[in-house]
Amino acid sequence: MSTSDIKKVGVVGAGTMGAGIAQLAASRGIDVVLVDLEKKTAEGALRGMEKILGRLEDKGRIEAGEAREIVSRILPEESFGSLGDAHMVIEAVSENMDTKKAVFAKIEESAPESAIMATNTSTLSVTELAMTTGRPERVLGIHFFNPAPVMKLVEMVKTPKTSPEALASATKFVKALGKTPVAVRDRAGFVVNRILLPMINEAVFALDEGVASAEEIDAAMKLGANHPIGPLALADLIGLDVAESILDVLHLEFGDPKFRPCPLLREKVRAGHLGRKTAKGFFEYD
Ligand code: CAA
Repeated sequence: MSTSDIKKVGVVGAGTMGAGIAQLAASRGIDVVLVDLEKKTAEGALRGMEKILGRLEDKGRIEAGEAREIVSRILPEESFGSLGDAHMVIEAVSENMDTKKAVFAKIEESAPESAIMATNTSTLSVTELAMTTGRPERVLGIHFFNPAPVMKLVEMVKTPKTSPEALASATKFVKALGKTPVAVRDRAGFVVNRILLPMINEAVFALDEGVASAEEIDAAMKLGANHPIGPLALADLIGLDVAESILDVLHLEFGDPKFRPCPLLREKVRAGHLGRKTAKGFFEYD
């Protein structure tokens, strides 16, 4: 495995993706500061990790005591001041450009000048975000997939301003995490979401039109296309609000009606049925 000079990272946002990235980095021996506006959200994320890692320990996938060791490498924080000695900071807050810009301003204020500032955005313009900072050459997208500790791909999004050094250093870091980086240009949805989300949206249209039930649509794609989980279960995993916002950005950026979100998807989001995180989406969860 390749090694990286990045030994301490900040992760901002302790939701599903931020927590997954923090867990992944800590499990590779990297010190992590997990910053969230609400310290208790970051602490809750740590408790979630303890459970996941405890199960891996029980299954013998990691050594006894390793779960505790991994979690102890993650410091939950609510202050950006704790990013003062981070080599890289990865932003993983909600998919809203204004929120991300505000977070980037705080990262720039707190992190060392040499730090790489990365966004885990799934669709928003990395270039637009980079240009709000005073050091766009240190900014790039590092797009992980859910669940971050498991999924092998990371999209490395370079903007016209990203320096080759920052990209090389971030790529080395991602390889040291055991992931396969793929370099992509800053186009909405990059590669995976641009292809994946229209497929998920089409599954929702098929459901809305009564082509088949949710169970049957998912079974069809698992058995007929060898997908590990069906498109509707995948939408529930991604979060229906996230899926809707990705489609909205694709629709806006490309102006192509093929990206318009299905009304059934919007209805579920409005009803607060967001998938796994609310225990109800296209399916129900315990
Ligand atoms: N941390 C560590 N390990 C985890 C984990 C986590 N958070 N979640 C699952 N695992 C491990 C499990 O412990 C298990 O390990 P072993 O095989 O060693 O026992 C393994 O992963 C498989 O997990 P499960 O047995 O619980 O369940 P599964 O076989 O159904 O696999 C899955 C789960 C890997 C998530 C699988 O369902 C899958 O591949 N789903 C598709 C996921 C996908 O496509 N993600 C991309 C979404 S798009 C996206 O993220 C981009 C975006 O911007 C929106």
